[in-house]
Amino acid sequence: MSEIIKNFIAGSWCDAEDGRRFDSLNPANVHETVATAPLSSRGDVDRAVAAARTALPGWRMLPAPRRGEILFKAAELLLKNKERLGILLTREMGKVIAEGLGDVQEAIDIGYYMAGEGRRLQGEVVPSELPDKDCKSVRMPLGVVALVTPWNFPIAIPAWKMFAALICGNTVILKPSSETPACAAALVEIMEQAGIPAGVVNFLCGPGREVGEYLLTHPGVDAASFTGSSEAGESLERRMAGLHRPIALEMGGKNAIIVMDDADLELAVEGAIWGGFGTSGQRCTAASRVVVHEQVYARFVGMFAERASSMKVGPGLQSETDLGPLINKAQFEKVQEYIRIGQAEGAQLVTGGNRISDGELASGFFMAPTIFAGVTREMRIAQEEIFGPVVSVISCSSLEEAIDIVNDSKFGLSSAIYSRDVNTTARAERELATGIVYINASTIGAEVQLPFGGWRHSGSGHPEAGGKGGAIDFFTRMKVIYRDYSGKLQRAQIDKAE
Ligand code: UN1
Repeated sequence: MSEIIKNFIAGSWCDAEDGRRFDSLNPANVHETVATAPLSSRGDVDRAVAAARTALPGWRMLPAPRRGEILFKAAELLLKNKERLGILLTREMGKVIAEGLGDVQEAIDIGYYMAGEGRRLQGEVVPSELPDKDCKSVRMPLGVVALVTPWNFPIAIPAWKMFAALICGNTVILKPSSETPACAAALVEIMEQAGIPAGVVNFLCGPGREVGEYLLTHPGVDAASFTGSSEAGESLERRMAGLHRPIALEMGGKNAIIVMDDADLELAVEGAIWGGFGTSGQRCTAASRVVVHEQVYARFVGMFAERASSMKVGPGLQSETDLGPLINKAQFEKVQEYIRIGQAEGAQLVTGGNRISDGELASGFFMAPTIFAGVTREMRIAQEEIFGPVVSVISCSSLEEAIDIVNDSKFGLSSAIYSRDVNTTARAERELATGIVYINASTIGAEVQLPFGGWRHSGSGHPEAGGKGGAIDFFTRMKVIYRDYSGKLQRAQIDKAE
């Protein structure tokens, strides 16, 4: 059964102004249309931006704890609808149902977290150098913000951005990936049910290159937040230069797990399986490199390959499935191209590499979990983001070398180390040059109460989610207020208090 999705502008559900539509397909069976969505154009964007602008004064003035109550209600509704949304998410995006439910749970978590932020949103009060004078800073919203989100976390990532932007008093326009419009629409429906005032959340569907770029660079938009590929993010960065508007970018990764010779190998293999093949490798945080100490290299590769080759590939809604399909043909072809590149570079294909298309699997882009051994750090398969179930195993002879290999990347989102030696893990924790480091755990599985963001080409340095330096810092700007109640001219840096 296919859903009919509409745009949501100024509190009403509506079609694209020229009535065009596009389909979103089930990646496990591309003959099944999950939803048809409006193919918006620039006029629709103009209307959405105008609606967000009109709603801004009212929303900004609503006390933040009241804004938080709406977010709390939205989190409650997400929880109530978790199963239905998880199933929709798996149908539209393909990840296995346990992960589909996890994606919804991450939205619930950030909803509750940001609702609580409504009673914090802290600034500072500090002493003045002069008598009868106050010094404080307060957080102000940025205004109208554009949110452009990817397909791999089709409910969690829109929620990360939207809840953070809203609690700070911004109004938003959400443009989701054209692969997953139904998931985003379901989240927006929940916002409507939670009582979000008209125009505070606007939503429209359409192609990134046209609608997404136009929205992010629109003169009526004050700030922009984008998650997607590095190519798209970097081209956006160039387009936005000179617009002088805050932009948060979350982009690619080439995350790595270090496995030392004293590691619990069973645990490390489980971590590599979960990090490398969870979400079929389609996470920014996916473990696409494993750097293994030469003493345990052969054993690790054997154990890892055995586990990988016994994984069940299939539709995400079937409970026995370990690995769902890739999102679409283009992604599948890109991954296949990297398999060829790896072989041409002389890496050893240990397992996988092939499409699985028996029976019903012929209607989706299913790929076997793939491991390359004998990979060296400069190979393209060790440097470029693949975004599929492909893991490169690299050998190292010391902790220093392992850290050097991990850091030898233009990306810097997530890394991990398996070792039982506290000194080893402490050194790794200090030296790994990534925004997130895991000790004796895989590269995926960040929680919402701390910032989520990558270094170097993985991001613009404005992390998502909670904690110090997280999304609240991006979606607000500080205003500093000095109040002098001495009744006379007091000159900072010049007059000294008696
Ligand atoms: C992403 O890969 O785009 O840490 C987000 C994780 C998830 C979020 C991933 N909580 O893997």
